[in-house]
Amino acid sequence: MKKHILIVPGDGIGQEVTEVGKKVLEKIAAKFGHEFTYDEALIGHVAIEATGNPLPDETLEKMRASDAVLFGAVGHPKYDNDPSAKVRPEQGLLKMRKELGLYANLRPIKLFDELLGASSIKPEILRGSDILFFRELTGDIYFGEKGRKNEGDTAYDIAEYSRYEVERIARKAFDAARTRRKKLCSVDKANVLETSRLWREVVQKLAPEYPDVEVEHQFVDSAAMMLIKDPKRFDVVVTANLFGDILTDEASQIAGSMGMLASASVGDSTGVYEPIHGSAHDITGKGIANPLASVLSAALLLDISFGLKAESDAIIAAVDKLLKDGFRTKDIADETTPADKILNTQAAGEELL
Ligand code: NAI
Ligand code: MG
Repeated sequence: MKKHILIVPGDGIGQEVTEVGKKVLEKIAAKFGHEFTYDEALIGHVAIEATGNPLPDETLEKMRASDAVLFGAVGHPKYDNDPSAKVRPEQGLLKMRKELGLYANLRPIKLFDELLGASSIKPEILRGSDILFFRELTGDIYFGEKGRKNEGDTAYDIAEYSRYEVERIARKAFDAARTRRKKLCSVDKANVLETSRLWREVVQKLAPEYPDVEVEHQFVDSAAMMLIKDPKRFDVVVTANLFGDILTDEASQIAGSMGMLASASVGDSTGVYEPIHGSAHDITGKGIANPLASVLSAALLLDISFGLKAESDAIIAAVDKLLKDGFRTKDIADETTPADKILNTQAAGEELL
């Protein structure tokens, strides 16, 4: 199969882990006889430094022209400590999602058996957990009007959802539930928020079209609690942008580390695949970042954008083997991990496939 993949590492550890994700794609191409070509583009802080724009037109054009995008992360401490900065790395990320119509963010919370002990949650609570989040990605409070009034002393962010926006993500979640354990949990805050009341209304209206899927509605505060108390009860979860952002970081603790979770953003055009973590300034440049989230994002890319299921499974099996062989990056190691089994970012990539 011939495909063109755009590599967009972005900032911080995005650079370090995406390099490993790309290497794994190269190994898969060699192993399965595919012809993948690559190009690279800038986003985030590195793009601002080079062009003044967090998402240069050239990057957007290259994204549109490619068959899939492997993305890293954006962010720089400079902006985190300066809320007044007008041009910011995350604007590049939000604009990319909006421009490419990436309204559905799929986040599989996959727990590798070997990492049962890496989580702060008890193994007997975790064992068998397997959740697929559908986070809406182009609406909600992130994209509504925002600003200041009263001479800057009052700030506001407006959350908006249209029926159409809720329906298209809900349908994707219902369809996915059908291929899994046929359970869908829709998470909202319908007791308080009008956007959530519309959300719940739309999901309830669609439910009769999917009689084989068992639907449940949960308030986000209670869902946050249940996720840790009894993660096994969840199969597919669908939720709005802000709730999904927070719940999936929480759910990363089911998988053991932020460094283990991949995501796929799909919608109207090219799919974008990225770790759920950020640019992690605290560990940037140390060579200790866990590259497996990027590697597992590459696996999602092959499966979802190219329909290459066997190739995708081969990557997941390689990650499983790496962990079974006892190798760990620092974030998933514990006091029982022998020093010679603790790998740096690059070495973890070399160990795979
Ligand atoms: P973060 O996800 O970058 O890091 C949170 C914690 O998890 C840190 O202690 C970090 O060291 C650890 N961690 C994350 N990924 C890891 C990996 N692969 N291996 C080992 N440890 C890992 O979130 P944080 O610290 O809140 O934000 C840092 C920057 O990233 C900020 O500028 C933020 O705006 C940006 N950010 C970007 C995102 C994106 O590009 N999608 C998402 C979240 C944050
Ligand atoms: Mg987040």
